[in-house]
Amino acid sequence: MAFMDLVNVSYSYPGQKKTILRDINLSIWNKGCIAVAGSNGCGKTTLSKLLIGILTPVTGFVNLNGQPLASLTLPQIGRRIGYVFQNPDRQFFCATVEEEISFGLQNLGLPADRVLQKVMAILDYFELTRYARTFPLALSAGEKRRLAIAAVLALEPELLVLDEPTAGLDPYRKRLLGDYLEKLITANRGVVLISHDQRFMDRYANRLIRLEEGQIVEQLGA
Ligand SMILES: Nc1ncnc2c1ncn2[C@@H]1O[C@H](COP(=O)(O)OP(=O)(O)OP(=O)(O)O)[C@@H](O)[C@H]1O
Ligand SMILES: [Mg+2]
Repeated sequence: MAFMDLVNVSYSYPGQKKTILRDINLSIWNKGCIAVAGSNGCGKTTLSKLLIGILTPVTGFVNLNGQPLASLTLPQIGRRIGYVFQNPDRQFFCATVEEEISFGLQNLGLPADRVLQKVMAILDYFELTRYARTFPLALSAGEKRRLAIAAVLALEPELLVLDEPTAGLDPYRKRLLGDYLEKLITANRGVVLISHDQRFMDRYANRLIRLEEGQIVEQLGA
């Protein structure tokens, strides 16, 4: 059984006729990296929101470990799947960069010293230490992207869904992110990488699916 199964999934936004995703059948494992490619508006972000239960299919279903996603609450899903929004601003709700990372760790019930240790390590890795006390929305676009990724990576989810994670990152930071993803994959975590960055996908993904107008038109890799 795959970690996630999408079976005959179709989706339209409420009150709209246009079918955004059509008959998607896809299995996703909580190991390796699957890249999702396709041109603007083909439905990549919509697909990612179906994976984490923010959206519910109009027809078909999404299972997590054989259980219908619809039977789980968003916090239950969130403990297993980490999600980084295409627009990181939407993700932030804390007063400081440090709290943005510690919040989820505290919620997982980690002891305070362990939380602090993890926050320091991840701030350091993503070169955000000097902004620890900064208001997240005051950061630059690239810094916000790094914070959004760092906050989710700190939780070490079984599956990590990243929507355009390299947008706004310079080559050096992309490399740091890629190295981190490789570490996660080696530690048997799964990654869903939605991207326009073909080189990044080629380098880190072992599977690729291409969407065109809401349908899977190509699948490569194992
Ligand atoms: N909340 C919404 N309500 C109605 N239509 C929407 C909504 N969000 C997205 N859409 C439409 O759904 C289609 C797919 O959008 P989606 O954001 O999933 O594409 P995408 O592949 O992620 O694009 P991009 O590469 O630009 O990020 C587009 O036609 C878009 O206009
Ligand atoms: Mg998108």
